[in-house]
Amino acid sequence: MRGILITFEGVEGSGKSTQAELLGEYLKQSGFDVILSREPGGTQIGEQIRNILLNPEYQQMDARTELFLYLACRNQHVREKILPALKMGKVVILDRFADSSAAYQGCGRELGEKFVSRLNKLVTAGLKPHLTILINVPVDVGYERKGTAILDRMEKEEVKFHERVRNGYLRMARRATGRIKVVPGNRSPEEVQSDIRALVDSFLSGKGRRKKCKKE
Ligand code: TMP
Repeated sequence: MRGILITFEGVEGSGKSTQAELLGEYLKQSGFDVILSREPGGTQIGEQIRNILLNPEYQQMDARTELFLYLACRNQHVREKILPALKMGKVVILDRFADSSAAYQGCGRELGEKFVSRLNKLVTAGLKPHLTILINVPVDVGYERKGTAILDRMEKEEVKFHERVRNGYLRMARRATGRIKVVPGNRSPEEVQSDIRALVDSFLSGKGRRKKCKKE
């Protein structure tokens, strides 16, 4: 596999989507072939599954139904889009990936991180991000940023749920310090992006990765 997989994670309102886009632009300008995608979503089928998952009307959704829908979405995404792009040597930037299921369904829904990780392995085909940026903001800061926006089914969950998600993420980061880099998100977007670029630059400068993925 010649490509590079970089994922963004964080609680609601952490600013990760903006940061993923800014990083994408930076890497494109630096000559990399970049694709940006998201979960849930990323494919035509995945976007349909996203609509079901986030629809605030489906309050009756069981935690395992929810987990399997996120996994189905990921399975399609990996096979249809991510693996082919990596085989072509592209840099794939994802706004959420498998760690989201471990944090939200494993910890938030309390289905168990190990249980979710085992199922994640089935759908990721053994694929692991080379680098994961975890943007860390307190739950209330993330919610303040949402302002008066209409909340989706996940965002409507109680604060305790989102606290479990955040703590789960931080635990995972402590266990995988090489891959998961925690970036404080309670700052201006420019400051956050500058830290992310430094992390990515340092990652790319290792093992000749920069050369490997640059366009001809
Ligand atoms: P987004 O708001 O970042 O687009 O993500 C949609 C929601 O889906 C967000 O509340 C996090 C949640 N989510 C999970 O619960 N499990 C997952 O595996 C993924 C990818 C997202």
